[in-house]
Formats: sequence, structure tokens, C-alpha cells
Amino acid sequence: MKITMIGTGYVGLVTGTCFAEFGHHVTCVDKDEEKIKTLLEGQIPIYEPGLDTLVLKNTREKRLTFTTALADAVAVADAVFMAVGTPSSRRGDGYADLTYIFEAAREIAPHLQGYTVIVDKSTVPVGTARQVARIIREVNPAADFDVASNPEFLREGAAIADFMHPDRVVIGLESLQAENILREIYKPLYLQETPIVKTDIETAELTKYAANAFLAIKISFINEIALLCDSLGADVVSLAKGIGMDGRIGKKFLHPGPGYGGSCFPKDTLAMMRIAQEHGQNLRIVEAAVEVNAAQKAKMVKKIRDMLDGSEAGKTIAFLGLTFKPETDDMRDAPAITIIPALLEKGARIKAHDPQGMEEARKYLPQGIEYAQDAYETCKDADAVVLMTEWNQYRALDLDRLMEEMQGRIFIDLRNVYEPQKMKEKGFIYAGVGRS
Ligand code: UDX
Repeated sequence: MKITMIGTGYVGLVTGTCFAEFGHHVTCVDKDEEKIKTLLEGQIPIYEPGLDTLVLKNTREKRLTFTTALADAVAVADAVFMAVGTPSSRRGDGYADLTYIFEAAREIAPHLQGYTVIVDKSTVPVGTARQVARIIREVNPAADFDVASNPEFLREGAAIADFMHPDRVVIGLESLQAENILREIYKPLYLQETPIVKTDIETAELTKYAANAFLAIKISFINEIALLCDSLGADVVSLAKGIGMDGRIGKKFLHPGPGYGGSCFPKDTLAMMRIAQEHGQNLRIVEAAVEVNAAQKAKMVKKIRDMLDGSEAGKTIAFLGLTFKPETDDMRDAPAITIIPALLEKGARIKAHDPQGMEEARKYLPQGIEYAQDAYETCKDADAVVLMTEWNQYRALDLDRLMEEMQGRIFIDLRNVYEPQKMKEKGFIYAGVGRS
């Protein structure tokens, strides 16, 4: 199959590369000349484990190319995937900004030749694919095409594995011709019997929001339970095992922390709430999850403050990890963006380290943070350490060395990486989340 991917952001680049790995011929198009130049030179603009090797392999084998020339790429394509950004609108009302999607539709339209499926990969409000179809018909009434929705469920940091071994593939469409093309594109997954869930277009669009909202709710649920565990002296890790082993609940996404972040959950929960409100409904459980998530970050600030005897002023706090999760350099909506400035404002001295995210972090965090080369340098002279992101390299820290570097003994583990009892035995004043 000949596939054209519009947008070489996180989703477009991973998806395009993996389709090429499936054996299809993929052209990734982006307006950003710098980005295309970087990709043509074999450099990857984002950090995603394994992506560089796969891009290199497929470019060498001539199944993957990058260009700014949209017209030629669209003309030859069996399927054009749209993977452009759908950020929260600048109006601050939670709506997804569809400017890039509609622009892409307008630009694709005049160049369509022969039958083509236009597939929405971006997370878009219900009804967007039909609007895309309307725009294309307006611009090019003779175009022979169908629209489809094929949401992605990739986790950053594990995107390639998620793509190659998905739990399911959701395709929303209403024509057999489009279905045949999409089934052909995903055919390599048949071998491992990946279920393909075929729905109408609107259901596929909504499925993506519902999946993300459900996961956000699950995290906010366990975060609230963790706070209750803190108050009651119960242990949330054992509790999560106790409930998660029930197949109806499932053990994934039951890890408490400083609140969810990233490019999807915060934006998509808000967008979904707005979609519902437009239709006269309130998604009260989603609204509660969003509120709980905001409160969780504030409560983590209080937790740190309490551990420092009620005031962070003049204290040195070492942050291990800044990104919203490990194995990514993505800082979008990372809890660190809320937690660190709150402490900085009250006079704390902040030192920080992140294996991949420090360059991005500088764009999101205020001036005045001291960035260090490694965990130990970060902890030098610190009154307290805050383990913010569970990078593997923080999972087996040399705790004796860490304590030698530190001035204090406080260890606040916002990801519950360490065992409270062992940390206490080591001499740390330790706090996890829900692990009293
Ligand atoms: C998510 C969805 O998982 C993916 O299907 C969708 O396509 C995009 O959004 P991503 O944002 O990359 O993926 O990361 P994910 O692993 O889902 O984590 C999101 C946030 O939730 C992170 O901040 C993470 O730390 C937090 N989280 C996750 C928890 O706090 N506890 C958990 O148990 C799981």
C-alpha cells in the first residue's frame, strides 16, 4: 500500500515508521522544513526508544521518505493519514483546536487522484471526519474518496511496542472500499490475531476520548485512595494489588503518583467534557477526575512542604525526573510544571535532573532552577530529594552515596519506587504516596 502521513509529530512519525516496517511505502509530509531536513539527515526530533533505528532501517530500505511536497505524496497515495496536532484551543475553553486538521483537508483535496481513503489519526471531536469530507468535497467536487477514523492508543516511551502489539485496532468507516484498504494496511497484525473493532465513524472518534477518560479516571481514583491510605495508615500498593487482580478491575493504571500529565489525558478529558456539554450533558465522573488531578499536584506540594517542617523557604530540594513519565523528553502538562514553581515561589532552592527532558524542561520551567549532570550531583547539599519521574536509572540509586551527598535525610518518593521500610532502615525520612 502507498501511504501518506500528514504531520511528523509524535503520532505521525511513529505511525508512519511502523507502517513502513509493515512493508508499506510511506511518505511523511510536514510543513516544517527544518524538521524534514533533520529527518532526511537521519536525526529524530523527539526521544522515543527504538524509533531512530526503525526510521534508519526503513529509509535505507526505501520504504520511508520525508518531504514538504504534499501534492506529489497525496496524488499517489491509497490512504492519506492525518496526524496533525489538535491542541486545546487558545480560548482556554477546553475545545480542541481543529485549525491544522481543516487546513490539511484543504491542502490535500486538490491533489487527490484515483480512489483514496482519508484517515483521521489525530484525536478529534466527534463529527470531525465528516467535516473533513465536506471540506474536501467543497474544494474538489470530483474527488473519489472516503473518510475514516482510526484513533491511536500509543503510550509515549512504549509507542513502537504498542503499535506492533496493540490490544486492538479501532476503525470507523462506512464504505467497504475504505475498509478493505485499512484491513490491508493492518494485515501484518492478523498474524498475531489483533482484533479489529469496526464501528461507524462517530463511534471510533468517541472511543478514543472514552478510552483516555477512563484511564484518567482510573488514575485519579487510585490517587484519591492513596491519600486516604496516607490518612488511615494503609498501604496503597498492596491495596492496588488486592483490587487489580480482580479481572474486572485490572491491575494497570493503578499506580498513584503526582497526577497524570502528558499530551493526551489533560487535553482529551477537557475536550470530551466540552463535547458533552455542547450536547446538553455533563460527564460528572470525568469532571471529577480532572479536579482530582489538579488537586493531586497541589497536595504533592503540601506533602513536600510538610516533610520540610511546614516551610520550603531557604531549603534545597533536589528533583529527580521532570518529564511527565519516563522514556520521553515530553514536558507537556508534566506535574513538575505545577509543583516546582510553587516551591520556587516560596523561596526554595531547586536542583533538578532528568535523563532526557532537561532541554525541554528549560522551556516550561521558570529561571532559577539549577540543572545537574546526574542524580548524585542533583542531591548534593539537598535537604530533601523528590523522586518525580520513575526513570529506570533512579530505581537502583546508590542510597549510601546519595545520603552522603545530601545535607538532610528527607526522601519524597512521588512514584512509590522504593520500599518505605527499607528506606527507613537506611536512615531516610521517607514518604511515598499512600504508603504510610
Ligand atoms: C496515553 C494513553 O495511554 C494512550 O493510549 C493515548 O494514546 C495517549 O495518552 P501517554 O500519555 O503517552 O499515553 O502515557 P501513559 O503511560 O498513559 O501515562 C499518562 C500519565 O498518567 C503519565 O503522567 C503517567 O505518569 C500517569 N500514570 C499512568 C499514573 O500516574 N499512574 C498510572 O498507573 C499510569
